[in-house]
Amino acid sequence: MSCEEMYMLYHGIMLPKESHCGESLKFAEEFTFKDDDVAVAVYPKSGTIWMQEILPLVLNGGDLTPIQTIPNWDRVPWLEEKRLALVVDKLKSPRGLVTHFPYHLMPPSFHASKAKVIYVMRNPKDVLVSSYHFHKMAEFLETPATLDEFMEKFLEGKVMFGKWTDHVKGWTSTDLGDRIMHITYEEMVQDLPAALRRISDFLGRNLSEATIQKIAEHCSFKTMKTNNMSNFSLVPKMYMNSDMSPFLRKGIAGDWKNHFSPEQLARFTSVIRKEMEGEIFSLPWSMD
Ligand code: A3P
Repeated sequence: MSCEEMYMLYHGIMLPKESHCGESLKFAEEFTFKDDDVAVAVYPKSGTIWMQEILPLVLNGGDLTPIQTIPNWDRVPWLEEKRLALVVDKLKSPRGLVTHFPYHLMPPSFHASKAKVIYVMRNPKDVLVSSYHFHKMAEFLETPATLDEFMEKFLEGKVMFGKWTDHVKGWTSTDLGDRIMHITYEEMVQDLPAALRRISDFLGRNLSEATIQKIAEHCSFKTMKTNNMSNFSLVPKMYMNSDMSPFLRKGIAGDWKNHFSPEQLARFTSVIRKEMEGEIFSLPWSMD
C-alpha cells in the first residue's frame, strides 16, 4: 500500500485511514462532552493503552469488570476513531475517552464543559523507539526501512498525529487551569501506586491504599500482557502482527539506549532542543 492509501490529512496532520475517516472526525468535532467525562490526551506510543486500563479502575473504585470484559478500544474509546460512534451509547458515566489530538483540535464542547483531562508524556526518544517497532507490526502503517529514516520522519512530523514537540507544546500551555493534570510515562514506570494516587486525587476519588495496590497489580506490564482485553491478541494478525513485535513490547524507560547511535542521539537531541527553545515548559527528561 502506498503512503497516500494508508494516511489521510486532517488539518495538516497524518492519520491512518484504517481507524479514521471524514465521518469519524466530524463525529469528534460535534461530540458532546459531559462535565463528568474524563479524557486522556496522549501522543501515540506514550501510554495510551496503559491509561485505558487505569482509568476505568480508578473511576470505578477498582472494579475489574470493565478491564476483564470489554476490549480497551471500546472501554475507553478514541475520540477521533471510527469506533466511537458505534460504542458511545454503551459507555457508562463517568465516561473515559482517549485522544491523540493536539490541543487545538479538541472540539468546542470539550472547552465548554468541565470535563477533566490527563495529559501523558513520555521521553520522545522512547516514543520514537516504541513507534518504530509499532510501525513494523501494524500493517496499516508505513513500514520503516531503517531507524535513521524513521527518525527523520518523526522529527519532521511526517508520522501519525504530527510532530511530537507540537503536541507537547500545545498540551502544556493550555488555558484549562485545574481541569488538566500532567503525568509522565516514566513517573508511572517508577512508582505506579504513587502515580495512581495522584490520578485518583485529581479525579476526586478517595481510594483506599488496598484499592490502589489492587489497581497497580492489575495495571502492571506483566498482568496487562496476559489480559486478552488489552493486549491486542483479539486483533487479527493481518492488522497487527505480534510475531514482528508484541504491542506490549518492553514497557520500560530508556530503551532508546539500546537503539540510538551517538550520531542519532546528537541529531535527535539538537532538533528537539531547538524546537523547544523559548518554551516556558521545560522537558522533565535529560535530553543527553
Ligand atoms: P514499548 O513499545 O516501549 O514497550 P501506546 O499505548 O500509547 O501505544 O504506548 C505503547 C507503549 O506503552 C509500549 O511501549 C507498551 O509496552 C507501553 N505500555 C503499555 N502498558 C504498559 C504497562 N502496564 N507498563 C509499562 N508500559 C506499558
